[in-house]
Amino acid sequence: MRISTQTISLLKGERPIVAVTAYDAVMARYADEAGVDFILVGDSVGTTQLGFETTVPVTLEMMLHHTAAVARAKPSALIVADIPFAVAHGEFATLLDACCRLMQEAGAEAVKIEGGACMAATIGRLTRAGIPVLAHIGLLPQQYHQLGGYRKFGRSEAEKVILVEDALALEKVGCFAVLCEMVDGVVAGVISQELSVPLIGIGSGPHCDGQILVTNDLLGMTTGYVPSFVKQYAQLGDQIRGAFVEYAQEVKDRKFPS
Ligand code: KIV
Repeated sequence: MRISTQTISLLKGERPIVAVTAYDAVMARYADEAGVDFILVGDSVGTTQLGFETTVPVTLEMMLHHTAAVARAKPSALIVADIPFAVAHGEFATLLDACCRLMQEAGAEAVKIEGGACMAATIGRLTRAGIPVLAHIGLLPQQYHQLGGYRKFGRSEAEKVILVEDALALEKVGCFAVLCEMVDGVVAGVISQELSVPLIGIGSGPHCDGQILVTNDLLGMTTGYVPSFVKQYAQLGDQIRGAFVEYAQEVKDRKFPS
């Protein structure tokens, strides 16, 4: 059964929603076979696949390329594509065009946009135009250079109030779900209760309506820093390196091909 944005919304209160990132057809197929509810073609493609240090250099062309690859896997899971850095903050026509290209050319079924209440008016125009939007609050990695690094959000009362207001403003303008990144677990629980749409958490504790992880992190393929909230369900990095080492040795030793 194909999963739609309606399916995702209706899962709230029924069972936790499962999401992962994927950036190509191979990984999308594996994730889909595992029964995930939605696949995010995140702009984390920049750090996980393309060798950038942050998501800031990721462009619309890169998102189109990777979203199209995921769509070619024809997953039952909903395909959500990230709107890259700053596109949502420019001219509305440019943003609308980016959403249309991701949906018409690349096969996305929804888009994700970073930003809180300040983005509500813009996102409202998109949802009224028929573009399903997953909101993204809390830590906004696209603002890395302004934040000066990654940190937890919602620890102070003031930040808690802002986060709840952000989530409610985004629900009001028609987002089918809200993703919250690195939000204090208790605050995430409060937001989830206040919202009628699902709250999908990453690094935000167990009280959300669903969870998302970056695939490279959960598969143990991340070179370098792995956030402490991540659970690694495999150590594929070690296995891949081991396979390359064995192959290289066998070729050098004239054991392969035999
Ligand atoms: O781009 C990404 O991978 C994200 C994560 C928060 C899931 O936005």
